[in-house]
Amino acid sequence: MGTYGKSIVKGNIDEIVTLLNKAYADEWLAHYQYWVGSKVVKGIMKEAVIAELVQHAADELRHATMVADRIIQLGGTPLLHPKDWLTHTICGYDAPENPQVLEVLAQNIKGEQCAISVYNKIATLTKDSDIVTYNIATQIMADEVLHEEELQALEEDILGFIETFKGRV
Ligand SMILES: [Fe+2]
Ligand SMILES: [Fe+2]
Repeated sequence: MGTYGKSIVKGNIDEIVTLLNKAYADEWLAHYQYWVGSKVVKGIMKEAVIAELVQHAADELRHATMVADRIIQLGGTPLLHPKDWLTHTICGYDAPENPQVLEVLAQNIKGEQCAISVYNKIATLTKDSDIVTYNIATQIMADEVLHEEELQALEEDILGFIETFKGRV
């Protein structure tokens, strides 16, 4: 841990680290949910959905790295065991048991909306007390906002395609 870098944090470091570890658990679970979703997803416009899921899976892993690095800078330890992900998560894990595209998209949209709320909470908590964490939280939150938008745009395209098709038969 960098001692001076840590000393300038004015907030409650334990509270910040606890919340960051919850976000860290969420990122790994989101990574896996996207990754395995990209493998099993079925149905209309599948290739476009797979491309988006693969990209998002990579983004969530990058977020996990950003959050873990900040936890360590604050003198904390990122969760060391995968079993801890399910006990510390805020956003949970939705297994893509129904692999149809619209179902997988709906699960991931719900996850993104939860992630946005988690980073909004971290940003609000650290805004005036821990600028570095605040900056990381807002960078990740911007990615999650984009993720939600991309998934909802795909959902809209698929629903639009189904409507058009229905009108022609
Ligand atoms: Fe993320
Ligand atoms: Fe995301």
